[in-house]
Amino acid sequence: MISTRSKVLALLEANKGIAISGAAIAKSLSISRSAVWKSIEELRKEGYDILAVTNKGYTLSEESDILSAEGLITFLKNPLITADRLHVYKSIDSTNNAAKKMAVAGAGHGTVVLAEEQTAGRGRLGRSFFSPRGTGLYMSIILRPKSTAEDAVLTTTAAAVAVCRAVSKVLGIEASIKWVNDIYVDGFKVCGILTEALSDFQTGAVEALILGIGLNIATNRDSFPEEISKTAGSLLKNPDRVERNRLAAAILNEFMDLNDTFDRGAMLDEYKARSFILGEPITVYRGSEVFDATALDIDDKGRLIVMRENGAKEILLSGEVTTRPQEQSK
Ligand code: BTN
Repeated sequence: MISTRSKVLALLEANKGIAISGAAIAKSLSISRSAVWKSIEELRKEGYDILAVTNKGYTLSEESDILSAEGLITFLKNPLITADRLHVYKSIDSTNNAAKKMAVAGAGHGTVVLAEEQTAGRGRLGRSFFSPRGTGLYMSIILRPKSTAEDAVLTTTAAAVAVCRAVSKVLGIEASIKWVNDIYVDGFKVCGILTEALSDFQTGAVEALILGIGLNIATNRDSFPEEISKTAGSLLKNPDRVERNRLAAAILNEFMDLNDTFDRGAMLDEYKARSFILGEPITVYRGSEVFDATALDIDDKGRLIVMRENGAKEILLSGEVTTRPQEQSK
């Protein structure tokens, strides 16, 4: 059953910045005015900035930026992602861990886990992902792929395109992609994607994919840990402009659209157009192997085609690449 607090919050989030009278809220939700007042008090205690003006009513401040299912649902277009599939935590070890547990317990396609902060956020290659409270977006989506394992690889590619599209639509910022899953703005990494598969032990079939997206929205540059301080950045300098519910919903809308239609050609064209390593000298880190190469192209499976210094071509399915300054290339 949906609580009164939740219904009031949904109404306020849908009318952010606009005053709604207590009487109007009471009428539209078929509850008493004292029940409205109690919910407003409850929400204020949770940190919601709700202004009350005599003869006008209650207004949720436009600056309010608390992640919630009620706040997200206002902007979500995909009918599959209903409020009961949105799980929002104040603090969690890792949204990917939580999503994985939910998937094992049977959670369906389109279940989403979000958190205000992660205490043990995970990145690729066993790294950690810095996930401070309130200034980033940490989100994991459970997908039940009907397609082949090969298409599952393209999920990360589609997610990178979805994040770029959402960032462009919501914030007017054009981001670039570094194969395979890093998103950059002005030369700094602002987003990482970690896709993990849950496989059937016996058949090897992919039962679920956990698509984890971590986005630094307004994390102060000085606060990044030493090891990423030279490469990590944030989308915005001014935290007042952060609207994480809107941005998270936009990413989900874009991703679910891409995932449903799966127009591989159009998606890969956009991925390539945003890829800043193509044609550039790079260093490839593949397991324990490190070599210099030139990034040539991305194929229809989302793999990176590179040319080694001796002219030999290689197709990379995964791994890590960094760009090399032109003058240092031999
Ligand atoms: C990377 O840059 O190596 C990938 C980072 C992925 C971070 C996201 S944040 C949400 C989800 N939960 C995690 O623990 N990791 C992913």
